[in-house]
Amino acid sequence: MPALVDLRSDTVTRPTAAMRTAMANAEVGDDVYGDDPTVRALEELVADLLGKEQALFVPSGTMANQVALRAWTTPGDEVIISKDAHCWRHESGALAALAGVQTSPLPGFTFTAAEVRAAFKSADDPHQAHTRVVAVENTHNMGGGICWDRAQLSDVVDEAHLLGLVAHLDGARLWNAAIAGATTERELARGFDSVSVCLSKGLGAPVGSLVCGSRDFIKRCHRFRKMYGGGMRQAGIIAAGGLYAVAHHRPRLAEDHANARALAELVATSPKVSVELARVQTNIVMIDLLEGTTATVIEQCKAHGVLLGTAGPKRLRAVTHLDADRASVQRAARVIVDAL
Ligand SMILES: Cc1ncc(COP(=O)(O)O)c(C=O)c1O
Repeated sequence: MPALVDLRSDTVTRPTAAMRTAMANAEVGDDVYGDDPTVRALEELVADLLGKEQALFVPSGTMANQVALRAWTTPGDEVIISKDAHCWRHESGALAALAGVQTSPLPGFTFTAAEVRAAFKSADDPHQAHTRVVAVENTHNMGGGICWDRAQLSDVVDEAHLLGLVAHLDGARLWNAAIAGATTERELARGFDSVSVCLSKGLGAPVGSLVCGSRDFIKRCHRFRKMYGGGMRQAGIIAAGGLYAVAHHRPRLAEDHANARALAELVATSPKVSVELARVQTNIVMIDLLEGTTATVIEQCKAHGVLLGTAGPKRLRAVTHLDADRASVQRAARVIVDAL
């Protein structure tokens, strides 16, 4: 049986031998005391890449988003957010449970400045929640890894500021958006008051995310990181994996994007599915079944050594990454077409 091709997510990668060596050799200290030089180096590097004053290392993308949104709000406030945004749909209700805020979800994966203005609630009216934050996801995971249009993105950020709101960017896959748009993470983060990025997705590190923003903001996040149980001790061991990933795996993300496109084009030849090729902009492919169920296709693919995810009852999701080369992705596409 050929090797398993796991396309459920870009989080399934395993650290390479070189990354493991970097981790094993990391200089460490107790990061709760601020003593870990490797964590400091990673925070400085990522803050600089994003053009922000400071960064804070946290265990997960969920914690990065949640401490940021908690730090910007008080219970009863409101966050304007896109449809199916990770920090609304896939973070276990943390916005309600931990920050005590309500959300105003907009119907698209991306949205416009006019929609932000229409959703905004003024604090002058005591009957209304106080809108505080506009949260954007780039690339948008459930949107199929799509990238925001740059002009639309900056209009949304400007509108947020005009309304007196802060703009938060869930940039778990901002690295992919930068490569796909032939730009930099710094450009895409411009104007945002806070940004979260993940090291454990396309970059292939085993653990870790960062939240970035002004010094004042990061100071507040630091408190919530502790409150949420995210203070880590000799965290340099995992931060070293992140440093390695940023240096060595960031430049290769274009390969994942090309592999996703190759997969999408092959699968789209089947009359049993619809694949919106224009939306295959990064490393995620959404495959809509015209007949049958995802459960059956997933089972059949699994029996032939290909693992897929779902994003709805008739929608398969395949994500390319560091551990799936072109040949495996092509094999996966053939298995999917046969299973259909
Ligand atoms: C867009 C986005 N934000 C945040 C997260 C959360 O990351 P984590 O799984 O590290 O909590 C994910 C995870 O897939 C994601 O896709």
